Amino acid sequence: MSLHPGRPLSASEIAELLLEARSRTLLLVAPLDDDDLRIQHDPLMSPIVWDLGHIAHFEEVWLLENIEGDAPGREGLRGMYDPFRNPRATRAGLDLPRRRDAFAYMGAVRERVLHGLSDLDLAGGSSRLLRDGFVFRMVLQHEYQHDETILQTLQLKQGTPYPAPRAVGLPAGPPDGSGDAAMVRVEGGRFPLGTDDESEAYDNERPAHAVELSSFEIDRHPVTNARWLEFMGDGGYDRPEVWSDAGWAWRTEAGLEAPKYWARRDDGWWQRVMDVERPVDPSRPVCHVGYWEADAFARWAGKRLPTEAEWEVAALWDPAAGRMRRYPWGDDPPTPLVANIDQLAFDTAPVGAYPAGASPSGCLGMIGDVWEWTSSPFTGYPGYETFPYPEYSEVFFGDEYRVLRGGSWATRAGAVRGTFRNWDYPIRRQIYSGLRCARHV
Ligand code: AVJ
Ligand code: FE
Repeated sequence: MSLHPGRPLSASEIAELLLEARSRTLLLVAPLDDDDLRIQHDPLMSPIVWDLGHIAHFEEVWLLENIEGDAPGREGLRGMYDPFRNPRATRAGLDLPRRRDAFAYMGAVRERVLHGLSDLDLAGGSSRLLRDGFVFRMVLQHEYQHDETILQTLQLKQGTPYPAPRAVGLPAGPPDGSGDAAMVRVEGGRFPLGTDDESEAYDNERPAHAVELSSFEIDRHPVTNARWLEFMGDGGYDRPEVWSDAGWAWRTEAGLEAPKYWARRDDGWWQRVMDVERPVDPSRPVCHVGYWEADAFARWAGKRLPTEAEWEVAALWDPAAGRMRRYPWGDDPPTPLVANIDQLAFDTAPVGAYPAGASPSGCLGMIGDVWEWTSSPFTGYPGYETFPYPEYSEVFFGDEYRVLRGGSWATRAGAVRGTFRNWDYPIRRQIYSGLRCARHV
């Protein structure tokens, strides 16, 4: 199922996509009881039932306003599910619904949406929100994004580990033989970054704009656990010279010595993914590292993090066609053969497992597996215009955040594309984040 950007969606397509999104959300939370849904597993995250109510509330605000014209509208965002009035750390103190009441609210909003769909002018007329189905794709992507947020919470979960419904096999992936330190060269030039799409893209991906880049090299694969173990074995966490000042201050204060969810045992380092614990697998990308660690690793390796422009060109530029693709492998949305994405593997895959997902430049694994830190702060592109609300992107612009690209295994396929920009604080590690390095040539 795909969001089919660039055209309106029919009422049936919208209904199917909304149902599919909800099925996934409900699958993820199905094993959880009332307590697991209502407690705050970590101060960084919401109680999961807040995410559920907020998903429904967002749909109520953005879709019922369009359909019935009598939804709470922007004012409605100021209630319990207003993320700004009630920051994550305080959400445990709210009068949160019980499991069944949260589900009932989600269902009630959805019923009104489906009921109203057939009367709506889906071509959009003069409404920029409705035109080409934008507001529906926005609501769908919002649910997809909160599914990944919920997966971050489930990995942090207190008490019994989350019994991940792992039902999906990954391609065994013969390693492609290039080695995990191989780099590809990208010729410099002038490239059209971002997009003008208004049917699917977020405001922060617009407008398309030209960027000049010098030639550079970039890692063919995301950095593996094998390389990260070398970094650790070489004292990487204890060598201030490879850390930035801010990074070193944080590393010292937080006492870091390994990625999050790694534990030292008598026989070496182990990692935990939900309810599975195993020795660190050298063939998979490192996951759950913060920006400061990623930056230190890159310096240790004699490299640097790519800018987001470099990442986007390495992922999307097709020199033969002289244009940017929508995804590294072409314009079609992800399938299970080209990327480890869409959650149900509940794990990263060994690097090189998806040769069919290669970009024209020869990079693998750019979509899926792990979000990749870039050196770029999160800012508006030249000509940026807020649409439809400043609280998605604009209020986060500034240099406290760094941009991450490419999505992770925990990202829904419809929530990422080559131009998609994620962002977070440099100290965050509960996100499914890794890196690939670059260098000047
Ligand atoms: C794009 C992942 C940074 O979780 O803060 C969800 C997505 N925005 N609801 C976030 C989002 C509003 C956003 N990120
Ligand atoms: Fe949200």
